[in-house]
Amino acid sequence: MDHQSTELLSPPAPSAEAADVELVDVTKRFGDVAAVDGIDLTVQPGEFLSLLGPSGCGKTTTLRLIAGFERPDEGEVRIGGRDVSRLPAYKRDVNTVFQSYALFPHLNVLENVAYGLKQRGLGRRERRARALEMLTLVRLGGFEPRKPRQLSGGQQQRVALARALVMNPRVLLLDEPLGALDLKVRKELQIELKRIQVDVGITFVYVTHDQEEALAMSDRVAVMNRGRIEQLGPPGEIYDRPATEFVAGFIGDTNFVRTNGSEVAIRPERMRVSREGKGLGGSVVTTMVIGPAVQCVVRLEDGQEVLVREQRSGQEQGVEALAEGERVVVSWADNEALELGGTNE
Ligand SMILES: Nc1ncnc2c1ncn2[C@@H]1O[C@H](COP(=O)(O)OP(=O)(O)OP(=O)(O)O)[C@@H](O)[C@H]1O
Ligand SMILES: [Mg+2]
Repeated sequence: MDHQSTELLSPPAPSAEAADVELVDVTKRFGDVAAVDGIDLTVQPGEFLSLLGPSGCGKTTTLRLIAGFERPDEGEVRIGGRDVSRLPAYKRDVNTVFQSYALFPHLNVLENVAYGLKQRGLGRRERRARALEMLTLVRLGGFEPRKPRQLSGGQQQRVALARALVMNPRVLLLDEPLGALDLKVRKELQIELKRIQVDVGITFVYVTHDQEEALAMSDRVAVMNRGRIEQLGPPGEIYDRPATEFVAGFIGDTNFVRTNGSEVAIRPERMRVSREGKGLGGSVVTTMVIGPAVQCVVRLEDGQEVLVREQRSGQEQGVEALAEGERVVVSWADNEALELGGTNE
């Protein structure tokens, strides 16, 4: 990688602002399984970074290594430039929000949020003031006297968030915090969470297997596969220039089409289907109208199937009017094909 050579060229800069989180060649094994397999990761102050990947790829383990709930077998975990690999969780300047809100059922909302401040020895008035400030931030002003069971799932997660933020950690770790919520509430809270993160300026490391969520909220996304980071970059880059076949297949929909002995990867929305013209011939397998778009599966002459997605034209002759079995031509502009690097295998 060329960042290594840059490192060699640049003078040491010990006074530069340290990264909030650094994982240096970190490995964590459970028996034979390397849940985290030699990961390097740097999270900058104020950054919203997501760990995204399929079930079992090591997202939670990575987060637990940062939090201090797991110790690395190899490598180093740094927070604010300091090696914390051997520091217990409670001594690390991080806080975690889990999918299950884990609120104290017998305490009201205000007491739940203020709880950690009490442990820290803050006086009653100060605790109350800071807890109220956080409840306003998560838009739960007025809910102080309620018990958790008197709140919706989304409201309970807001309380959990306020309870973590009130401790003013350097880094907030979030493990699928919206995973238990229905789609509509989840979308609302995505926008809220992003606003709050920008407001408070705290670094977020956010775990999700929901690509839309990661792409919508993050400054950078780390796409994980089998304990490794396959690609790390801003959402637009991950989507437009997936570095590996795995990333191209995991993020968005991708057709892998073999033509003239080589394979090209191409997004369904970058393809067109028409009744005549230049391109690959085939026949319509099925057409589905999905809101403003129409999806069409085409079986090419050599048997490959591709997915094409277009905006609906609303016209009688549009793609939505294609019938099963109809002969069509599939095409794309050369510059729409994704150029994939080698996989990291
Ligand atoms: N305490 C444990 N003991 C043994 N194996 C574990 C333990 N924790 C995790 N693993 C294994 O490590 C791998 C990574 O698990 P991890 O929980 O980090 O995945 P994940 O990406 O968070 O998945 P999910 O999206 O399902 O939450 C999996 O194969 C899992 O079975
Ligand atoms: Mg997990």
